[in-house]
Amino acid sequence: MRSRRNLLRVWTESSNVGEAQQNTLSPRQGQEEKRSSMTKLALTGIKPTGTPHLGNYLGMIKPALELARSFQAFYFIADYHALTTTRDHKRLNHRIYKVAATWLALGLDPEQVVFYRQSDIKEIFEFAWILACFTSKGLLNRAHAYKAAVEENLSAGKSPDDNINTGLYNYPVLMGADILLFGTDVVPVGLDQRQHLEIIRDIAVSVNAQLGKALKVPEALIQEQVMTIPGLDGRKMSKNYHNTIPIFADPGTIRKQVMRIVTDSKHPDEPKNPDKCNVFAIWRHFAPADAVESKRRLYRRGGLAYSDMKQELCELLLAKFDAGYQVYKNYLTDTSAIDRILKRGAKKARTIAGPVLAEIRRKIGIE
Ligand code: TRP
Repeated sequence: MRSRRNLLRVWTESSNVGEAQQNTLSPRQGQEEKRSSMTKLALTGIKPTGTPHLGNYLGMIKPALELARSFQAFYFIADYHALTTTRDHKRLNHRIYKVAATWLALGLDPEQVVFYRQSDIKEIFEFAWILACFTSKGLLNRAHAYKAAVEENLSAGKSPDDNINTGLYNYPVLMGADILLFGTDVVPVGLDQRQHLEIIRDIAVSVNAQLGKALKVPEALIQEQVMTIPGLDGRKMSKNYHNTIPIFADPGTIRKQVMRIVTDSKHPDEPKNPDKCNVFAIWRHFAPADAVESKRRLYRRGGLAYSDMKQELCELLLAKFDAGYQVYKNYLTDTSAIDRILKRGAKKARTIAGPVLAEIRRKIGIE
């Protein structure tokens, strides 16, 4: 695909892009870079599926909140994307609130971040149709999620498109509308979204080739460091595997989940490999940095019981998230505050989306 060189920026936990760039520049240039990155736009969508878990926190929420300090951030709840797979319509609204409450309780500042619900921005859906008319069908045929659904049908002896809705098929186009409508510079996402970003860049390039320079071609910012956070069973932590530890839950639930983390059956006295231990792999992200090396040594030396390690992880998690959990519960008890925040965010987002869409309409001959 086009310009892969620019596409993949590694987004590390401790460095934001503004700072990373600054290191390679002279002080004066560095300041300019910093200033311009403040006005650069970072945008990402959050699908309201399931209860947010530690994998979401480390892989997405925490780095996105850090990024919001050096970029103008637009973070939104991708509720219409969730509709492509949601069958439980009764609970969708509640899931939307849960996700919003989670981000707010973890410190998203709605004064600083434009935080909204995708479905409140009508311009996105009009724009999605326009983009669809510039998107070759072949491009969407190659999208991983669609291809996987087709392959699953074929291996079950069904017809290729059995039970596949066109919302799923057009998913990358709607995502393109989310991103391109705001002149986004960077899109912080997990590795699983990389192909979507490649498709969206191709769509933008094709629109620009036909309409003149109309759209900014965005960059994906892929968070690589913590992609491998394991779940309870050692596979990647994911709601699809039912192996998650929630960020916010009552202490009993957190404890129960932590105790279920799978370990080998080594006796406390035996030497162990920290890098093969699921408890350690989660613990190290929450422990003080200077405790990690001594813990590694203790593993190797022997004399560490997995049950103690789990206990320690529990304490760390409860200490880290307890205050937020109270805030989270308050937001969910009275959701009118969330409504107000998201409405205000939508209003701000639409002041940008409106003129961009008007300009595109003019370019395509529909005024
Ligand atoms: N597809 C993303 C996911 O599954 C969610 C999403 C929707 C998104 N629109 C977006 C992410 C725009 C980044 C930018 O996680």
